[in-house]
Amino acid sequence: MGRLDGKVALITGGARGMGKSHARHFVAEGAKVVIGDLLDDKGKELAAELGADNCRYIHHDVTIEAEWAVAVAAAAEAFGTLNVLVNNAGILAHRKIADMTLAEFRRVIEVNLIGEWLGVKSVIEPMTKAGGGSIINISSVEGFTGAAGMSAYSASKFGIRGITRSAAQELGKLGIRVNSVHPGGIMTTMTATAFESFTGISDGEGFMRSLPIARFARSSEVSPLVVYLASDESSYCTGSEFVVDGGMLSGPGY
Ligand SMILES: NC(=O)c1ccc[n+]([C@@H]2O[C@H](COP(=O)([O-])OP(=O)(O)OC[C@H]3O[C@@H](n4cnc5c(N)ncnc54)[C@H](O)[C@@H]3O)[C@@H](O)[C@H]2O)c1
Repeated sequence: MGRLDGKVALITGGARGMGKSHARHFVAEGAKVVIGDLLDDKGKELAAELGADNCRYIHHDVTIEAEWAVAVAAAAEAFGTLNVLVNNAGILAHRKIADMTLAEFRRVIEVNLIGEWLGVKSVIEPMTKAGGGSIINISSVEGFTGAAGMSAYSASKFGIRGITRSAAQELGKLGIRVNSVHPGGIMTTMTATAFESFTGISDGEGFMRSLPIARFARSSEVSPLVVYLASDESSYCTGSEFVVDGGMLSGPGY
C-alpha cells in the first residue's frame, strides 16, 4: 500500500527542482501525477522516466486562467479525477526597490501569488466532485520575513499565507484542506542562481554553516512533508503553515 494510493495530483512547476522531486515521491507512494511547467523538454523527460501509467506532462503557464482549465481537464482525462494540487511554480527576481521596475514587481506577483490563487480557484469544482482534496501552497521562509532585494518575492510569499488561510475557511466544509509549505535553503536552480546576489556572499556553503542545520537541503528533504500533506495522514491539518528550513527562522545565529 502506498501512502498516496488513489490520489491524483497536479504539480505546477514540476519539471525541475522541488516540483520534480515531489513528482517522483508522489509516484513512489502510489499517486498518479500531472506535472505542468513551461520547460517542455524537461517535463516530458520526467514524465517518460515515471511512465505514462503514472505521470503526464502538460505545458501549463500558471498565470493564464484558460491553461488552468486545460491542466485540470488533463488530470481528469488521464486519471479520472483530481484530488491534490501542489501549487509549486515560482520565480525569484532579486532587485532592490529603487532598482526594480513595476513590470518586474508585477511579474513576480503574477506568477507566485496570482498563479497560486488561480490554482485554488480552478480545483474547487473537481475536488468537490471528487469528494474532497488537499491543496498545498508552496510559500517560503520569505513568507515570514523580508530581505534586501526581496520585496516582490517576499510580498508574494506572505500573500500565499493569506490565500491559504482564507481558502481553508471557505473550503473546509467541502472536504478540501489547504495548507502552506515554507522551505528555506533548498539547493535548486533558483537558489544556485540567486544566492550570491541575494546575500552578497559568494560562499553559499559558508553562509549556511551559521544555521542550526549547517548546510543546504536537498529537494528530497522537502518532498516527504508534501507527501504527508497530500495524504490522508494529515486529515486534521488545514489552514496551517509548515516550515522546512534547517532552523533558519528560529533566530539569529549569534
Ligand atoms: N529553493 C529554495 O530554497 C526555495 C525556498 C523557498 C521557497 N521556494 C519555492 O519553491 C518553489 C519551487 O522552487 P525551486 O527552488 O524548485 O525552483 P526552480 O526554479 O528549480 O523551479 C521552479 C519551477 O517553476 C517553473 N515556472 C516558473 N514560472 C512558471 C509559470 N509561469 N508557469 C508554470 N511554471 C513556471 C519553472 O520553469 C521551474 O520548473 C517555488 O515556488 C519557490 O519560490 C524555493
